[in-house]
Amino acid sequence: MTVAGTSPHASTRATPWTAGAEALRRQDPELAGVLLAEYERQTSRLQLVAAENFASPAVLAALGSPLANKYAEGYPGQRHHGGCELVDMAERLAVERACALFGAEHANVQPYSGSAAVLAAYAALLVPGDTVLAMALPHGGHLTHGSPANFSGRWFDFAGYGVREDTGLIDYDEVRELARNRRPKAIVAGAIAYPRHIDYAAFREIADEVDAYLIVDAAHTLGLVAGGAAPSPVPYADVVCATTHKTLRGPRGGLVLCGRRLARRIDRAVFPFTQGGPQMHTIAATAVALGEAATPAFRGYARQVVANARALAAALAAQGAPPQTGGTDTHLITADVTPLGVGGPAARGRCAAARIVLDKCPLPKDAPAPRDCSGIRLGTAAVTTQGMREPEMARIGDLLGRALRGDASAGGEVAELVAGFPPYRDEVPPFREM
Ligand SMILES: Cc1ncc(COP(=O)(O)O)c(C=O)c1O
Repeated sequence: MTVAGTSPHASTRATPWTAGAEALRRQDPELAGVLLAEYERQTSRLQLVAAENFASPAVLAALGSPLANKYAEGYPGQRHHGGCELVDMAERLAVERACALFGAEHANVQPYSGSAAVLAAYAALLVPGDTVLAMALPHGGHLTHGSPANFSGRWFDFAGYGVREDTGLIDYDEVRELARNRRPKAIVAGAIAYPRHIDYAAFREIADEVDAYLIVDAAHTLGLVAGGAAPSPVPYADVVCATTHKTLRGPRGGLVLCGRRLARRIDRAVFPFTQGGPQMHTIAATAVALGEAATPAFRGYARQVVANARALAAALAAQGAPPQTGGTDTHLITADVTPLGVGGPAARGRCAAARIVLDKCPLPKDAPAPRDCSGIRLGTAAVTTQGMREPEMARIGDLLGRALRGDASAGGEVAELVAGFPPYRDEVPPFREM
């Protein structure tokens, strides 16, 4: 697809938004200083938050583009506003790329976030009061999977399934039994802290048995699916919800995939039911990320993310912090830090003191209401984008072990390590020059 009237040289022309960093520095040095400091923070520490990644300069350029100015309520070809011809092209590109990449009949790329994508799925398929089955929060479920603090727990009747005590794996027998007893309208498969592949075929079978919709929340794993490093939920789920900013390495946002049968219901659930005008700059950036995710290089990246996570899980086990389920199939690791004499919150603090950024995390053994959770949650999506591989994972395992034991001097070596793997190398994002 090309834009009429643009020359092949258009892409090399200076644009108002690449010059914007300097304008921002002059106009608002206080805020520019915050951006620069955050850039320094991201690039001078070890980024192990499982939900984060480094978006490419191309994705960041689309985010900072004039598409941020455009109102485009509706869908391509059917907008409430004038002047949408070009943003229509951006959204069509994103939709076409999502459908091609994931083999889906329909994609909606407008959800503002992963939570908005889940809200749209519920809005399309359920009415308030319906019963829904989802992973219990202390076992790895997300807030949108029935937390009483979230709309989901307030408006629907959620029943939580969990993982087996002996293996840490999803207890599919429990899911089946709960489904038979509670007769849910929908079953949600997906988690924020489950390191293993999910058996989507088993969930489909259970959903079919009780005539329930199957909603897969693939927020964490969609990038691995794109890169062929994790099984796809698309052939099994009625609706797949996801974020675009985790392993998929796009802008912060959400998307929904579904079959043709539910396409109109999903679209209407996103707009006008739960959202207003779409963020067209984010949708353009999603198109860029989906283009990147379709490349052989991204397949290599996704495979390396998993190889790195496996190596890091083994290194953590050797340090005395056993990973849940004994390891991982994905980018994500949850590990029990209590054998090292520390709880999750203190572990996160000790790591931060050593320039290692990760999350604390409740473990199933902490249920139902942990006062001081026992775990940490970390992932390899960002460090793999930086080019780190198994040898670096072994080193990170050692540094983590020292940090978790309270040795903040590990921070010097962390700084040395990350300095060798800058996330932005050849193409310098504009904010670096501020
Ligand atoms: C499984 C799952 N669903 C939904 C979300 C929500 O995404 P967002 O924070 O973009 O709303 C997350 C985010 O961590 C998630 O992991």
